[in-house]
Amino acid sequence: MNPFKFGTIVDGDYFTDRVEETALLKQKLDSENHIVLISPRRYGKSSLVQRVLADSDRPQIRLDMQYVVSVSDFASQLLKALFRIYPMERIRHSMTHFRIAPTVSVNAVTGALEVNFQPAANNVVLLEDAMALLEKVATADNRFIVVIDEFQEVVNIAKGFDKQLRSLMQRQHNLNYMLLGSQESMMEAIFEKKKSPFYHFGQVVRLGKIPYDDFLQFVTSRLPDGSTGVAEEILSFTGCHPYYTQQLASQVWEMLVYRKEEENVVQRSVDALATMHDLDYERLWQSMNRTDRFTLRQLAQAQQPLLNRSQATSTTYSSLLRLMKLGYVVKNEHYEIEDPFFFHWISENNK
Ligand SMILES: Nc1ncnc2c1ncn2[C@@H]1O[C@H](COP(=O)(O)OP(=O)(O)OP(=O)(O)O)[C@@H](O)[C@H]1O
Ligand SMILES: [Mg+2]
Repeated sequence: MNPFKFGTIVDGDYFTDRVEETALLKQKLDSENHIVLISPRRYGKSSLVQRVLADSDRPQIRLDMQYVVSVSDFASQLLKALFRIYPMERIRHSMTHFRIAPTVSVNAVTGALEVNFQPAANNVVLLEDAMALLEKVATADNRFIVVIDEFQEVVNIAKGFDKQLRSLMQRQHNLNYMLLGSQESMMEAIFEKKKSPFYHFGQVVRLGKIPYDDFLQFVTSRLPDGSTGVAEEILSFTGCHPYYTQQLASQVWEMLVYRKEEENVVQRSVDALATMHDLDYERLWQSMNRTDRFTLRQLAQAQQPLLNRSQATSTTYSSLLRLMKLGYVVKNEHYEIEDPFFFHWISENNK
């Protein structure tokens, strides 16, 4: 079996490092505090949270703001998640405060639970009632953990929703919120701007790439004996990005183990993966304006575009911001192209 895994949550043997982060999150969960976890896409937020929660027997609710389309949808998704833990009959007595009763039904085809409200129901009321139910079932010896992924979407759902949600969360006890997000600038605006309702809501934890030494050991020990050089080459290409490292290592492993091809194995794996995405990259490139192309090309040539004089700094800066918002550029010690294969593609096509 290929010992590398990418694209979905990893645990067990596929998971490495994050020792300090795991300890920190567990410690925060043992208090009345909330956690805000920020990283670029695919750095391992979900995997880390999964690992932390796997060791906890507390009731857990998970929502993804990306799939919430309205305030009433948030309320019904919250109730649905609660009913999954507590069958309706067991908490019906806690629902007497509901001013608008939801309709709960089972989809006869999928078996999934559905929670609906009358279309014209007042959103504020729905949200208050649902959040109050959560507050009722969470008790000192039944403390809840509520994980909300892609939390930055909170500002796009409805005007004033973030403010309402914040004031309701503030009233709740016996639960910890873990709010995850991958759009760093938006997450920062939500949790670190004084005017935002979520200003200083919880401890902000930033997840970085996986440390080199640990990742080198992880990759080397899963490749055939004597592959340290290969592992180093993989990491030098991916810059220790969790997802892309596992993806490239997986391809390299296949070449080495199944196809017994050893020569230039990393370079050929890179080419194979870049070719696979050739069409996507080309479409992406075509959809971009000239400024963004120029910025990306400079990054691919390892130049810091902010320092370059051939383009006005403010233009470059707004281009970088735009590219960061779209997730194509991330900022660690400096600005970098998020996807090393896209980086490779740009370099190859702009020679
Ligand atoms: N601790 C880890 N050890 C090894 N690989 C990891 C680790 N964390 C993440 N990865 C790699 O990165 C991939 C993405 O991880 P995960 O889905 O947890 O990230 P995420 O930040 O939640 O992503 P998204 O932004 O898509 O929600 C995994 O499939 C795995 O290949
Ligand atoms: Mg995730």
